[in-house]
Amino acid sequence: MTQQTGRTGRTGRARRAEWTRRVERPRAGTAPGALPLLGHAIPLARAPLDFLTSMARHGELVEIRLGARPAHVVCGHGVAHEVFRDARTYDKGGPLFDKVRPIIGNGLASSPWEDHQRQRRLLQQAFQPDRMPGYAAVMGEEIDAVLRRWRPGRILDVGAALYELTTRITVRAMFRGRVEDDAVAELRRCLPVITRGVFTRTILPVDALHRLPTPANRRFDRALARLRRVIDRTIAGYGTTGGPGQGTAGGPGKGTTGAGEGGGEDLMSLLIDAEDEETGGRMSRREVHDQVMTLLLGGVETTANLVAWTFHVLGGEAGVEARLHAEVDEVLCGRPPGLADLPELEYTRRVLTEVLRQYPPFWLLNRITTREVELAGRRLPAGSTLVISPYALGRDPAVFPDPDRFDPDRWLPARAASLPRGAGFPFGGGARRCIGDRFGMTEALLVLATVAARWRLRPAGGSPVRPTPMITLSPGPLRMLLEERQARTPRA
Ligand code: HEM
Repeated sequence: MTQQTGRTGRTGRARRAEWTRRVERPRAGTAPGALPLLGHAIPLARAPLDFLTSMARHGELVEIRLGARPAHVVCGHGVAHEVFRDARTYDKGGPLFDKVRPIIGNGLASSPWEDHQRQRRLLQQAFQPDRMPGYAAVMGEEIDAVLRRWRPGRILDVGAALYELTTRITVRAMFRGRVEDDAVAELRRCLPVITRGVFTRTILPVDALHRLPTPANRRFDRALARLRRVIDRTIAGYGTTGGPGQGTAGGPGKGTTGAGEGGGEDLMSLLIDAEDEETGGRMSRREVHDQVMTLLLGGVETTANLVAWTFHVLGGEAGVEARLHAEVDEVLCGRPPGLADLPELEYTRRVLTEVLRQYPPFWLLNRITTREVELAGRRLPAGSTLVISPYALGRDPAVFPDPDRFDPDRWLPARAASLPRGAGFPFGGGARRCIGDRFGMTEALLVLATVAARWRLRPAGGSPVRPTPMITLSPGPLRMLLEERQARTPRA
């Protein structure tokens, strides 16, 4: 059997063996340069992505200081696997989640292990593969509605356009035509204010600062109250069993998203009706509220940023763009993509996977140990903070040679086979792996393929694009010029 040769000249087997050795003999280190009282706060605040990426040279698990408190950065893929594999020991908790839960609630993404398993069983039903055709139909309609407004020669604020699109898709998948357009617009306005506020509240050490009546704090409080009202009003419209009842936040008709849709369950009906197979229990209203909040916060910005980054990258990678266009033209022959086309859009998927490696929307994950453990040869007491950065892991040269090079073909099956499972971890791993991974990738593929079939987005100048790490990693303001393109005649 021939061996797949990597870009470094080493065989796939050799690279895997090296990785396995690294897993078996992980090394722990300590980051130099901690200042008294401040620890590593300054490089972390100034250039968190560079700081976290640079930690790998100190070991597979590296101790840093957040002020006076220690934290450990997971730099090795093997160590990350170990953490993801044991969600009970490496749980969501500690001071960061204590700050986040009063804002976003105790939904799937923030709940501790003891609540998580039950919640996951209930929510999983809404993310089964057999739900995807319904969601994909919603995605197709919304993509079409947005693209119909595009005109050649216009300069597009790509981030804003995609945020609007993914908000509409997520809301329609959740509430299927039961939310008025102005409620969607309200969500669109509130969500970025809340994610920004959650971020500053988790990084700023002094809680009292958030209670000051500053304009930013007042904006945050107003946005949160408005978001909660919209969610509550919509849930109230569903009655006690699934399926929107009377008095919805906006019955189907003019001015609602997805007016006139027929039957079929939306995500919300599934959440309300979901019965725990083990206990037969259902979610309370409060729990449903927290899950809706979680899905909005987890599903809208992530996918919008993934696609925004993709357009940015394609704008500077003419060869990649040409191959993408060729594939889309050949597979789609000028028609909009459907779910059945996605397996054939192999290069398109590899492009997105490579973007996820270089610009993972969730660039920073956090865990706390619930008992004393030994990790990478280091003993950590219960209550230790762990930091996992999919951004830094995606740029580990031991796993991804020449990591700054944008190379979708690293994900060709033969080459990807030599990578550690879940390499880069853009969707996390184990029991807490992203529940919306299939939903998000389907959405991103459909947006990318639909746009690529009809449009080319060119950089339109303005401020240079820089990764902006907040709760998610965005390209910041991204202005691009819309050029229409003709699909090339497909091969016979
Ligand atoms: C391409 C887009 C997406 C990316 C890159 C992404 C990434 C992630 C990551 C890394 C995690 C793990 C967080 C951790 O371990 O702390 C996660 C969890 C989660 N994601 Fe996503 N996500 C995406 C799309 C979505 C979508 C579309 C939804 C919902 C509609 C969603 C809902 C969630 C939820 C609820 C969790 C918590 C899962 C749990 O703890 O059991 N995500 N996501």
